[in-house]
Amino acid sequence: MTQSEQKAIVASAAIDALIEHGEIFSGMKIGLGTGSTAEPAVRHLAKRIADGTLKDVKAVVTSFGTQNLCEELEIPVFSMNDKIIGGHLDLTIDGADEVDPFNNVIKGGGAALLREKIVAYNSSKFVIVADSTKIVKTLGTGFRLPVEIIGEARVPVIAALNALGAECFLREGVRKCGPVITDNGNQLLDIVWKEPVDPAEMEDKINSIVGVVENGFFTKNKPTVFTMNEDTKVIARQV
Ligand code: A5P
Repeated sequence: MTQSEQKAIVASAAIDALIEHGEIFSGMKIGLGTGSTAEPAVRHLAKRIADGTLKDVKAVVTSFGTQNLCEELEIPVFSMNDKIIGGHLDLTIDGADEVDPFNNVIKGGGAALLREKIVAYNSSKFVIVADSTKIVKTLGTGFRLPVEIIGEARVPVIAALNALGAECFLREGVRKCGPVITDNGNQLLDIVWKEPVDPAEMEDKINSIVGVVENGFFTKNKPTVFTMNEDTKVIARQV
């Protein structure tokens, strides 16, 4: 099975299980993540809307990419600020770059971490769909943590992150000269440590640096993590 086949299987199974357990339901407000795992989850959600299982689902999206996908699939999209949403969601479903044994997560490989955190931290339930390659023992030394920054503050932010022991890399555009510009008009640093770090402590320390907009450690709203075990069985891990 390829990694993308696994993503699609786990994503569909997660949507069906959440419907079965009443956690995805008609009339709900749902946050939709970004990336190659979130996409099959959104596509499967659209199928369950089209087959009549779900009605009147209101989505808040986390990127231009997911906005476009919802337009294609005719899933109605709202802003967090719309009165009908009221700044709070019933559930958010998203992918991840890495997940540790305590369900702490690194996100932002697709540059959407800011809006992903806004929906994840303002949802009654947070769900991550992760193929088995994303499950790791510790965070900080493997996948580089994305940090969204104000471009004007790049040099002092890098100095402050260096003081926290991190090596920093400005994310460069592909077929675009210069840095990646996020959907929010900011730049991204991808940072890495020589030793594993405490993600909860680092999430707060990094966000206290002036010029940092948000970082990709998600430690505060612990998700249920749907993944696949060695027997190719889809499991839901809660801590
Ligand atoms: C988007 O910025 C990210 O947080 C993604 O959710 C994460 O990078 C996982 O991406 P894939 O599902 O494409 O692996």
